[in-house]
Amino acid sequence: MTHALPTRKHTTLPPPLPPLPPPPADWSPESWASRLAAHQVVYTDRAAVERAVARLREFPPLVTSGEIERLRALIASAQRGERFLLQGGDCAERIADCRPEPIARKLKILLQMSLVLAHASGAPVVRVGRFAGQYAKPRSSPLEVRQHPGGGPPLTLPSYYGDLVNREEFTFEARRPDPMRMVEGYTHAAITLNFIRALIDAGFADLHHPENWDLSFLRQAGLPPSIADEYHAITEGMLSRLRDLESARDGRAEDLSSPEFFTSHEALNLLYESAQTRRVPRRDGFYNLTTHLPWLGDRTRALDGAHVEYLRGIANPVGVKIGPACDPEEAVALVERLNPSDAPGKIILITRLGAAAVERALPPLIEALRRAGRAESVLWVCDPMHGNTVSLNENGAIPGGGAGRKTRAFADIQRELETAWEVHRACGTRLGGVHLELTGDDVTECLGGASGVTPADLARRYESPCDPRLNYEQSLELALTLARRMQRDRAKSARPPSSRTPGAR
Ligand code: PEP
Ligand code: CO
Repeated sequence: MTHALPTRKHTTLPPPLPPLPPPPADWSPESWASRLAAHQVVYTDRAAVERAVARLREFPPLVTSGEIERLRALIASAQRGERFLLQGGDCAERIADCRPEPIARKLKILLQMSLVLAHASGAPVVRVGRFAGQYAKPRSSPLEVRQHPGGGPPLTLPSYYGDLVNREEFTFEARRPDPMRMVEGYTHAAITLNFIRALIDAGFADLHHPENWDLSFLRQAGLPPSIADEYHAITEGMLSRLRDLESARDGRAEDLSSPEFFTSHEALNLLYESAQTRRVPRRDGFYNLTTHLPWLGDRTRALDGAHVEYLRGIANPVGVKIGPACDPEEAVALVERLNPSDAPGKIILITRLGAAAVERALPPLIEALRRAGRAESVLWVCDPMHGNTVSLNENGAIPGGGAGRKTRAFADIQRELETAWEVHRACGTRLGGVHLELTGDDVTECLGGASGVTPADLARRYESPCDPRLNYEQSLELALTLARRMQRDRAKSARPPSSRTPGAR
């Protein structure tokens, strides 16, 4: 028997949402094609594109509209402060990594982080993977230049746009965009999803089996003892709370241990996205059935561009990345364009402003949304990764892309996340989620953290073909950082007013 991704335990459904209004009359799954598309791939063989798209259209969908609606209801619940959203996975998922171990390790780290966050916040965590289709990447330059190893003239080739488009290898043949890779991407997304569904169905994510969760994996990972102890204490606390709740027959227990996972990816290659965008029986509207949660990248969010045009008509919840260059009024216009009826659960606003800018740039964004009456009806999510990328070369760390190895300092990631948490508190909004690039593997791509990855370590195990990811330990450490903030705030709000220090904030 097959199961939908959100499996078995549906006892604590948040109330179903009213259906979204129908898409605008001038919209269709292909109406984006008349708009300018940033980062759109230039294929040379039109007939091959048509063949690939025709094949994609025929495939069974990867996800169902029922699952998508459930995620929208969960996001609406997170917007009301009842849940927290954890979204994470590779920057660029690779077809070569469609193997059991990397997928299982990714699930495991997301599960462990969600356990930490659920315990600290006292609320269930909605888990969303950047997986099963995160195969397309925007690039800062359409071309990549490399020196010839033999010393000849430098070679210029198209950049690597992710496995959905071309291959990473630096040869002309590999870098040529190949439309059949969309079919390959789709089939590998299906294989990945099938494995995730099977693992979950087999009890992999069941909190009642702490052996799946804890000791052997932690010891293997060689976590610093302070982190292992803190995590272990949380696991114990969580399990005993789970037992209490269950013995009291409180429905929330079921929910806290629910093994649900949802999928997400950047909706970048619109040929791929629109090929599986359809009407479904017994529901209104068009659903993108390649993923539960597509998101709009910071580089493709032009209001009159193709990506916004495509996303404004679909019924899925949509993520919107907001970088430091985004004018607050532009962000408001985007939210209004993508969610004209202000429907709950529809928009997650993912700010990725950078540790240096977040304190200055986040308040005006919140204020602009508040003036438009939208500050409470989006889910505020912090992506502390993409505003903190530096290029490391012999001249040191240079902000942004450029020559040298891309990395991110754990301290910057941590600082942006903690600052975003505090800014939201101060502005009267709530940080409702976190969006991370991470892996369950022991890579050395981001610097620092308790395990102390140094610049010299970067060469040791740098595997990302695109942006640097948090490794297993760094991911867990970041979850613990956030958990401390959550716990501190809960303790503060639980204290009776008389016991609070006069004048203390
Ligand atoms: C990403 O999420 O990998 C990405 C490219 O992010 P952004 O659009 O925020 O730059
Ligand atoms: Co990235």
